[in-house]
Order: sequence, then structure tokens, then C-alpha cells
Amino acid sequence: VKKAGKAQRGIGAAIDQAVVLGAGIMGGGIAYTSALHGTSVRMKDIRQQALDLGMAEADKLLARQVAAGRLDETRAAKVRAAIVPQLDYQGFDRADVVVEAVVENLAVKHAVLREVEGEVGVETILLSNTSSLRIDDLAAPLARPENFAGMHFFNPVPVMPLVEIIRGERTGDAAIATAVGLALGMGKTPIVVKDGPGFLVNRILSAYIRAFLQLLSDGADFEEVDRVAEAFGWPMGPAYLEDVVGLDTGSHVCDLIFAGFPERMPAVPGNAFKALLAEGRLGQKSGAGFYRYE
Ligand code: CAA
Ligand code: NAD
Repeated sequence: VKKAGKAQRGIGAAIDQAVVLGAGIMGGGIAYTSALHGTSVRMKDIRQQALDLGMAEADKLLARQVAAGRLDETRAAKVRAAIVPQLDYQGFDRADVVVEAVVENLAVKHAVLREVEGEVGVETILLSNTSSLRIDDLAAPLARPENFAGMHFFNPVPVMPLVEIIRGERTGDAAIATAVGLALGMGKTPIVVKDGPGFLVNRILSAYIRAFLQLLSDGADFEEVDRVAEAFGWPMGPAYLEDVVGLDTGSHVCDLIFAGFPERMPAVPGNAFKALLAEGRLGQKSGAGFYRYE
């Protein structure tokens, strides 16, 4: 165990040093948004290519802010410099908080969280951006489960205002206070919710996605469903939304929530996600999902 962290933090207290694990769709967005709001972030991945993509996305978003006159070049350069991409654990011993955003897989998250716990101070708070895994299950291998909570951002992180903060059975108040403080510091609206498959928002979303899968199973055309959803006034239909989320993540989340509520949401026969995944179509991140992306 490394040195103790800084003095006890309260709600809204500034967080100087954050670590984000995973530089993918969510990790990249969390790192960018934290840096934009004044927190230094170490962004760790196991693949250099993921780090490069994460930094390229931050560059794109910063250039857009500069073009819109919301940031000047000097400030944009400072925000960029506040994100440190890395493959190792350098500087983890000085982190106030770690936000885990690696793939939605219990075994991988267990291994990552346990390893990270050995690299940070005893007061460092660990938060997981899991979409659907129970916080109590994720906490199982941790030596300090009181320092662990869920912090569920929505995609795209820079734009979506809500953040769910999930209190597990053994989560302590300092972990909740740190997560709430981090969310408020990022300009987000935090809500504290109970643990359970899908927490709150994804229980709603998965019922909608299940209805979409059922429509496809009944013979509907996905593009037509999207067109109707857009005509109805929603910003995007379910097929496009799942391409944005990632079909691997979306499928896994649905499986877990359907399994959690089998009477309310029985699994759909001929699940379209599985067919696309079998062809390696993960959504926008792989260049093709329901739609193809150049
Ligand atoms: N990253 C950063 N900024 C983005 C962005 C992105 N990916 N997409 C859009 N924006 C910004 C734009 O730059 C623009 O900003 P300004 O107004 O400051 O210039 C603003 O958002 C609006 O953009 P647009 O007018 O081009 O697009 P829009 O009207 O479609 O709004 C949106 C964008 C709010 C993201 C909208 O498309 C939307 O609500 N989409 C659905 C998102 C959603 O449901 N997310 C939840 C996914 S499920 C999940 O996250 C949970 C899980 O566990 C899987
Ligand atoms: P992603 O596939 O875009 O990125 C995952 C990243 O984790 C990859 O870059 C991968 O290289 C990295 N990774 C894998 N093992 C690692 C390890 N041991 N250490 C460090 N990095 C590692 O996935 P994503 O969509 O960003 O999802 C990440 C998490 O966020 C998941 O738990 C997911 O359920 C959750 N989430 C996703 C969305 C969404 O819309 N995509 C929304 C909310 C929450």
C-alpha cells in the first residue's frame, strides 16, 4: 500500500489529480471533460492505439471549442497538456480519484481494479463507469471496498448532463462525496442510486432497446425504425444509438439486464446484436454496425 492520500474530501471539494482507466469512447470523454474543467488527468490504457485515438478525439473537441470562440488557443493547449496518456502506473500514487472505464467484463474489471488498488494511496477513491455490472460484485476482490462506488456517465460524456452515482453495500460516504464532487466539478448533474442490474437509467433504456430488438425479430427494418424515431422527435433512433454506444457494450448490457429481470424482459429470439457481432461489426468504433461508417 502506497502513502496515504490527501486530507478528507467533502462534497464539491476540488479534485486535483484524477486517473481514467481506458481511453475508449467513455474513458476518452471522461478524461477530456475532466481536463476541460480544470482537473489534471492521467489516462491509462493497455493499447497505444487507444491512447492515440483518445488524444485525437480530445484535439478534435478542443479545436471545435476554439472555432466556436469558447476557448482561446492558450487555454486549449493547457487543457490538452492536462491529459497525460500512459501505458504504465506512473503518478497513480498521487491520484485523488480513479475512474475505471475499461471493457464491460466482470473478470477484466476485477483484475484491473485489484491491480490499481495496489498502486494508489489508501484514501484514493476508485469509481467504476460500468453500465450494468453490480457494484457489490465489482467490489468483491477489493481490500478497501469502502473507497469504491459506481459513477455511470452517459455517452457522449462532454454533452450528456446526468451522472448516476451508485452506492454499493460497502461503499463509504467519502466515496460518494468524491464522486458527487467530481460530477459537480465537471458541470454534471449527479444522482445517487441503488445498486442492481442497470441501476436506474439503463433499466429504462434497455426496455426501449428490447422493444427495438423485438420489432426486428418481428421483421421490421432497422432504418425504418430509426426514421420513425427521428420523425417522432428523438435525436436518433435505436439502431444508430446502439452503433454510437458500441454493439459489444450494448449487447452485454442488455443481456445482463434481461437476465436480472427475466419476467419483465425475457430475452428476444434472433437477437440482431449477436448476428452483427458475429461479423465483427461493433458499431462506429469498428467502422460498421447496423450502418457502415467511412
Ligand atoms: N462529443 C462531444 N460533443 C458532441 C458530440 C460528441 N460525440 N456530439 C454532439 N456534440 C455537441 C455538439 O458539438 C454541439 O455542441 P454546441 O451546441 O456546443 O456546438 C451539441 O453537442 C449539439 O450537437 P448537434 O446539434 O450536432 O447534435 P444533436 O442535436 O444530435 O445533439 C446529442 C447531440 C445531445 C448527443 C443527441 O444526439 C442525443 O441526445 N443523442 C442520444 C444520446 C443518448 O441517448 N445517450 C445515451 C447512450 S446510452 C449510455 O450512455 C448508457 C450506457 O451505459 C450504454
Ligand atoms: P471501449 O471499447 O470504447 O473502450 C474500452 C477501452 O478499455 C479500450 O480502449 C481498451 O483498450 C481498454 N482496456 C481494456 N482492458 C484494459 C486494461 N486492463 N487497462 C486499461 N484499459 C483497458 O468501451 P467504452 O464504450 O468506453 O466502455 C467502457 C466502460 O464504460 C464499460 O464498462 C461500458 O459499459 C461503460 N459505458 C459505456 C457507454 C457507451 O455508450 N459506450 C456508456 C456508459 C458506460
